[in-house]
Amino acid sequence: VFSAIEMAPRDPILGITEAFNADTNPAKINLGVGVYYDDNGKVPLLSCVQKAENILIEQPAPRTYLPIEGLAAYDKAVQELVFGADSAVVQERRAITVQALGGTGALKLGADFLKRFSPSSDVYISDPSWENHRALFESAGFKVNNYTYYDAATHGVNFEGMLASLKAMPQGAVVVLHACCHNPTGADLTQQQWDQVIDAVVTRGLIPFLDMAYQGFGAGIAEDGAVVRRFAATGVPLLVSNSFSKSFSLYGERVGALSVVAASADEAARLLSQLKRVVRTNYSNPPVHGGKVVATVLATPELRQLWEDELAAMRVRIKETRDTFVKKLKEKAPQHDFEFVRQQVGMFSYSGLTKEQVAKLREQSIYAVDTGRICVAALNSRNLDTVVDAIAKVL
Ligand code: LMR
Repeated sequence: VFSAIEMAPRDPILGITEAFNADTNPAKINLGVGVYYDDNGKVPLLSCVQKAENILIEQPAPRTYLPIEGLAAYDKAVQELVFGADSAVVQERRAITVQALGGTGALKLGADFLKRFSPSSDVYISDPSWENHRALFESAGFKVNNYTYYDAATHGVNFEGMLASLKAMPQGAVVVLHACCHNPTGADLTQQQWDQVIDAVVTRGLIPFLDMAYQGFGAGIAEDGAVVRRFAATGVPLLVSNSFSKSFSLYGERVGALSVVAASADEAARLLSQLKRVVRTNYSNPPVHGGKVVATVLATPELRQLWEDELAAMRVRIKETRDTFVKKLKEKAPQHDFEFVRQQVGMFSYSGLTKEQVAKLREQSIYAVDTGRICVAALNSRNLDTVVDAIAKVL
């Protein structure tokens, strides 16, 4: 039964980590996966996380099953973070939030849920989008299309094209939008552009699915989350996946959530009951530790402040790294203009490097995504010169 099974291709992002791990060169550099490293090249263990863990260790608790929808304190804290405690959707109990296995897990729950209740919808993702979006929605049974997004000539958003795509979508289509820090391009919409996107989504009767994996890495926690609140205020059905992998540096704990906004509290209760069936048939209920850590930090004022400060420091370091990267590239490759890297937002730079150039970098043990996406958050004062020299060489 298994003999005819062919080898699957490597994952376009995590497959790079596999190749990186297999590389025996001690000077290897991984700019592939979206992970924040500090200036020493280490994935940070945030102080707010350590303090929360110390609190949890002092109150040892048995590891019974969590409810299907996850830890109640976590779901509440996340919902308030995402929508605002004083928002109408929270106050009127129209939002439901379930703990999920990272942002990917939240997207998968949302995709399975939508497939049950809006099976004939098509899904639209940005061109380009996070590599896993297409695979994830296709594996849930959807036809996945692209909407116009990136303009390689300007390194920005082709906004007219995007708007035209939205206006041409059939009613009931699911449109996946990056709430902030667009992955992979780092090109975000302005507030005025979001106004027009929200208007188009509402007018056409589309189902917005906001993916927010990088909250806090753009302009700030509130600023990056603003669009979610604005969508919620329109009263349209809305799905939001969010992740704490990056913002809490809790990658391996798989902490994320799916929130859905309904038209009424009664509708929300029915949605939750159905969403629980999706969870139950996928993995039954989520793990305890990461959810407890995040819930503790978000609900403890000193730890929450510490988290906000630590997240701000990560955001600032990435911005400074962009500046230095551009400055050094200007010295080493003066005939190429990389100024656009400064305008990009979040962890990534869609560098414009071709697949062939990326392959050449790999010969020097520098790993990037084939599309030319590099993780700026993986650059540091020790590897920056090596990377800049290598890029200048392959250009
Ligand atoms: C990325 O885009 O590199 C991250 O979101 C990690 C992942 O799961 O792909």
